[in-house]
Amino acid sequence: MAHSPAASAAHPAPIVTLTVNPALDVSTSTEAVQPEHKMRCGPSRVDAGGGGVNVSRVIERLGGHSTAIYAVGGATGQAYRQLLEAEGIIGRAIAIEGSTRENITIDETSTGQQFRFVLQGPTVSEAEWQQCVSATEAAMHLGGYVVPSGSLAPGVPDDFYARIARRARELGVRCVVDASGAALAEVVAEGVYLVKPSGRELGELLGAPTLTIDEKIEAARELVGRGRVEVVALTLGGDGAVLVTADSVTRLASPPITVRSTVGAGDSFLAALVLRLAQGHDLAAAFRAGVAAGVATATTEATELCHRDVVEQFERDLAAAATA
Ligand SMILES: Nc1ncnc2c1ncn2[C@@H]1O[C@H](COP(=O)(O)OP(=O)(O)OP(=O)(O)O)[C@@H](O)[C@H]1O
Ligand SMILES: [Mg+2]
Repeated sequence: MAHSPAASAAHPAPIVTLTVNPALDVSTSTEAVQPEHKMRCGPSRVDAGGGGVNVSRVIERLGGHSTAIYAVGGATGQAYRQLLEAEGIIGRAIAIEGSTRENITIDETSTGQQFRFVLQGPTVSEAEWQQCVSATEAAMHLGGYVVPSGSLAPGVPDDFYARIARRARELGVRCVVDASGAALAEVVAEGVYLVKPSGRELGELLGAPTLTIDEKIEAARELVGRGRVEVVALTLGGDGAVLVTADSVTRLASPPITVRSTVGAGDSFLAALVLRLAQGHDLAAAFRAGVAAGVATATTEATELCHRDVVEQFERDLAAAATA
């Protein structure tokens, strides 16, 4: 990689996120989810969601900045854009013909269970996804980070993130990917700085959905050992996370918390990890920040994301535990 300027909290490396299949996240609650009856719902809230955009939103909440590239269309797309702008997210909206999807999260108050309906999303044409690639490339800077994250919309090729990863490498930018299925397989084959699979996603990648945690860690080590992926940040929900590099395996347990909703936990993990790296922290500290933000988001209701003071407290606790 070419020489890159030293990053610090005062002069962080630039971060660009990419979301090709964003969604308006509608969340509400009802007493019991049941067929046929009308289910009267409580108050609802609407958030601009989707992998990369959520990463940008959490970075902003933690006091950092990023550029969000996202594809939107239709009336829902307009609402989406306005919500993001109201949150102070700087970015570039790529206009698409189809209408931005809505995802629905229902909290069932009688049981505490959560139901998440994830819609497929509009088809994105080749010209449209190519524009996303060009806009992302234009926003990448030497020594910076690019974070393509979330599902691929219908019409987008499986190697979409792999294309971004290739350009990032050529431009001296670190590519950090949160993807699943074929998109993850392609990016891992292409080569990338960091991938953040959940335990389930890593199992699927290997065609072995029922691995134990130790087997998943071993699989992550093998992935790094193949030499195409520098870092695997394997997240394990309530079981915490594992960071694997060529010469280290670090496992962190989640601090004990009352879980309210894990929506956005993985995005929060990734956002804090990338922000701390961009601010010049080492991988160990960035990894602690990731766990801190994932846990902090799990303590908030529905689609609500983490709060800065809570994240920073968990970061201090985890740092103290690391040196104890
Ligand atoms: N139940 C939980 N209790 C405590 N922390 C959690 C919980 N769920 C998630 N987290 C935190 O958030 C991080 C990311 O969560 P997780 O591993 O579920 O990833 P994810 O990307 O949200 O999962 P997926 O994409 O499979 O839905 C975890 O490493 C952990 O720090
Ligand atoms: Mg995830």
